[in-house]
Amino acid sequence: MQKLLIRGPTRLRGTIPASGAKNAALPILAACLLCDEEIELRNVPAVRDIRTMLQLLEHLGVENERLGDAVILRPTGRVSPDEAPYELVKTMRASVLVLGPLLARRGHARVSLPGGCAIGVRPIDLHLTGLEALGAAVELEHGYVETRAGQLEGARFRFPQPTVGGTENLLMAACLARGTTVLENCAREPEIVDLARFLVAMGAGIEGAGEDTITIEGRDRLGGARHSVISDRIQDGTYLIAGVLTRGDVTVEGARPADLAPLLEKLDEIGARVDVGEEHIRVRHEGAIKPRGVVTEPFPGFPTDLQAQYMTLMTQADGVSTVSETVFENRFQHVPELVRMGADIHIDGTYARVHGPSALSGTSVMATDLRASACLVLAGLVAEGETFVHRIYHLDRGYEQMESKLQQLGARVERVD
Ligand code: EPZ
Repeated sequence: MQKLLIRGPTRLRGTIPASGAKNAALPILAACLLCDEEIELRNVPAVRDIRTMLQLLEHLGVENERLGDAVILRPTGRVSPDEAPYELVKTMRASVLVLGPLLARRGHARVSLPGGCAIGVRPIDLHLTGLEALGAAVELEHGYVETRAGQLEGARFRFPQPTVGGTENLLMAACLARGTTVLENCAREPEIVDLARFLVAMGAGIEGAGEDTITIEGRDRLGGARHSVISDRIQDGTYLIAGVLTRGDVTVEGARPADLAPLLEKLDEIGARVDVGEEHIRVRHEGAIKPRGVVTEPFPGFPTDLQAQYMTLMTQADGVSTVSETVFENRFQHVPELVRMGADIHIDGTYARVHGPSALSGTSVMATDLRASACLVLAGLVAEGETFVHRIYHLDRGYEQMESKLQQLGARVERVD
């Protein structure tokens, strides 16, 4: 198994390019099931979750060809199953995103129930009640969810709480429903806006993506399209945090400041200098880091996907800060590993108190999920000596060439077997 070796401490300096957003590309790839024409997507990150989704699409009858950062998708027209099997879903929960498009296009979908994962229980009940509101019959049997519908019917549906995947599944399904669908209390993440832009390019009638209420006028069919995926606010945010953490000077070219506003506000509050252009973000920092608390919330709140990385930053702040995780119930698994490196963090349920600054020292640490892995790599950048981050297959799910980007910024990091 591969691991990352980081020799610290380092001061990061330089410019790196943004990568395409995994969490935008995944639903967009699933949406390719809504038509039978060729689709060209650009800025698709070469990360493991994307390879898994492409494998699932092949299984469902859509071939793909990679050309640099672009992926061409071609429906084969061959008879293929309407099913996302356990073997694929267990490696990537986002496989449930094929549920809405398959049901809408083929009238039937069978998807393995994803079950819980390291960061929480993560049910899909809201995806299912939403599809039922559009007229689908839903059955749960043998660990699979099976949905059927002759023709989906537009409806008004209010999510009891915002859900990113639920909003995406319903949005895709409603594009081929008969009549108008109104979705209320939707998630407003930039990835949903990007999915909607792609669907509109395919011919869908959508208004309000990025707002609380989305209205969709159903169409008889959608067609092929070309689309460039937005840049990844979570990857970009991770490198910006690393820049401040190491008292460095880091620029991410192609980053989208508006998508990162909650993080940039925090970095400003803790004393970093933040400069934004239309398509780049630069952070610089010297001296003390002020302690500032965060509460994770759905967009436009502080993203749960940057919580672990921000906590590493707070281990170096001058004083006490608090981190409250409100989106997932089990997203502090990085804490024991940070503590092993010398951090002083106390957890009470989904609330953590971080006492800084701590002198971190390198050791072997175990990654438990994607963002926890990233926070441990960041800790290694400021720790004295060698840090080995094990189980980096988590990292490879969502970070494109992380070690090479960090090397470009001057870090001493390498992948070892
Ligand atoms: C998406 O997950 C992201 N994944 C996650 O990225 C991200 O952390 C999360 O949104 C929140 O921003 C992708 O986009 C592929 P949710 P998703 O449905 O859609 C509860 C990463 O590291 N809920 O918005 O699964 C749920 O349990 C990751 O890249 C229900 O109760 O998140 C959670 O507490 C991990 N019932 C909350 O809602 C449902 O039917 C938000 O989940 C659906 C969700």
